[in-house]
Amino acid sequence: MNLMNVDYDGLIPNNVGLNADSRVKKALEKWHPGYINWWNDMGPDGFQGSLVYLRTAVSVDPKGWAKFDYVKMPDYKWGILLAPQVNERKIAFGAHKGENVWQEVPGEYRAMLRRLIVIQGDTEPASVEQQRFLGKTAPSLYDMRNLFQVNVEEGRHLWAMVYLLQKYFGSDGRDEAEALLERRSGDEDSPRMLGAFNEKTPDWLSFFMFTYFTDRDGKMQLEALAQSGFDPLSRTTRFMLTEEAHHMFVGETGVGRVIERTCAEMKKAGIEDPHDIAAVRKLGVIDLPTLQKKANLHFSLTLDLFGNEISTNAANAFHAGIKGRFREDKLEDDHQLENGSYPLLRFADGKIARQDVPALSALNMRLRDDFVDDCNGGVGRWNRIIEKYNIPFAIKLPSVAFHRHIGEFSSMEADADGNLVPGDQWDSVKEKYLPSESDRDFIEDLMKPELEPGKFASWISAPKVGIDNKPGDFEYVKISD
Ligand SMILES: [Fe+2]
Ligand SMILES: [Fe+2]
Repeated sequence: MNLMNVDYDGLIPNNVGLNADSRVKKALEKWHPGYINWWNDMGPDGFQGSLVYLRTAVSVDPKGWAKFDYVKMPDYKWGILLAPQVNERKIAFGAHKGENVWQEVPGEYRAMLRRLIVIQGDTEPASVEQQRFLGKTAPSLYDMRNLFQVNVEEGRHLWAMVYLLQKYFGSDGRDEAEALLERRSGDEDSPRMLGAFNEKTPDWLSFFMFTYFTDRDGKMQLEALAQSGFDPLSRTTRFMLTEEAHHMFVGETGVGRVIERTCAEMKKAGIEDPHDIAAVRKLGVIDLPTLQKKANLHFSLTLDLFGNEISTNAANAFHAGIKGRFREDKLEDDHQLENGSYPLLRFADGKIARQDVPALSALNMRLRDDFVDDCNGGVGRWNRIIEKYNIPFAIKLPSVAFHRHIGEFSSMEADADGNLVPGDQWDSVKEKYLPSESDRDFIEDLMKPELEPGKFASWISAPKVGIDNKPGDFEYVKISD
């Protein structure tokens, strides 16, 4: 069998030779009904019977792995797909640098690996739960389809992590796979594992910001795991990254189209001042200062996902060869970091200052810095849209010290420029930099569904090209109950 091709005959499409592995096959078939129940309970509300124009992976070939067709979401082919094995791949970093990669879990790293896989796995269904009600207020069928595409792929990412748990971690892997279906985003008794995945995604601007910032945290984590010396994890995450690219496309172009629409309507109405919020809102579009506030919120929540700046867990995972740095294989250093240092922003003696710390201890920080760089690319492209309309406004990412709940800055408050704010002044600062109750109400009022093919809600412009090169009035979702 050519491993690049996917076996679609059984219940679980895969390119891992599941038919020859009856133990894992049985375990996954046993897990399957619980997954479908979870999807029906917690997946997109109200659209499970609709036909959605979705892409499905039919190969892991870098070119042309996707096939587009109408599918009812519960019938989506959630498969287990690993990127092709790289011949004679060696561990690229840490204490085992230069050794052959592992095809089985090394006993001494078993607990660490399981934990990393479970944490990654937990984020996948969480975002589906967070986005569950958005279909009902979709600004177009095009956007609705993109939402559902992201949702089914996050479902597939859960399958990807569950496969690793079932195949390599025996009965405790099985228990973890069950628990992944039991936790719920935002639930008081059994929440998802990470903070940002328990927040609400109440409107489409939040969804676009979430896919721009929070899915990009996913990208960074997957990039770091793609470097892993545990080869099955590396191959799994490498293929997930190809899907993840679409999620960030949805976020970047989504926010970009909101900006485009706002600027175009401002020009048409002759409004020069982007801070004349009342006048802009009367046009049925989202004012740029509110967009900035939403970016502040989602950026800061996402930074918390990188964990403590100084972390022994991250150092251990790197030392073990389990989790590398962003593009480890492209970096030029000794890949062991036993001696180097890394500059870190710290909060000490009442001020924020740069400090050099041992490089091995600062790996979370380093990944977070790479994340911030990656975020800035799209922000620049958003600003070019605003410049095109000659509107004096620029979106800017807030300081990493702003609105933090984990790490160095969790014990203090700072404004978006990183200036310290005394505790009793935080409420008024918050109003200025984060969406207020009335901002949220305004956005919520705008969220009226637009279900006619080719039409878009007042607050967002049409995309430049359709999905799969479909024409502007293509019916991406055929809605039925
Ligand atoms: Fe994902
Ligand atoms: Fe994603």
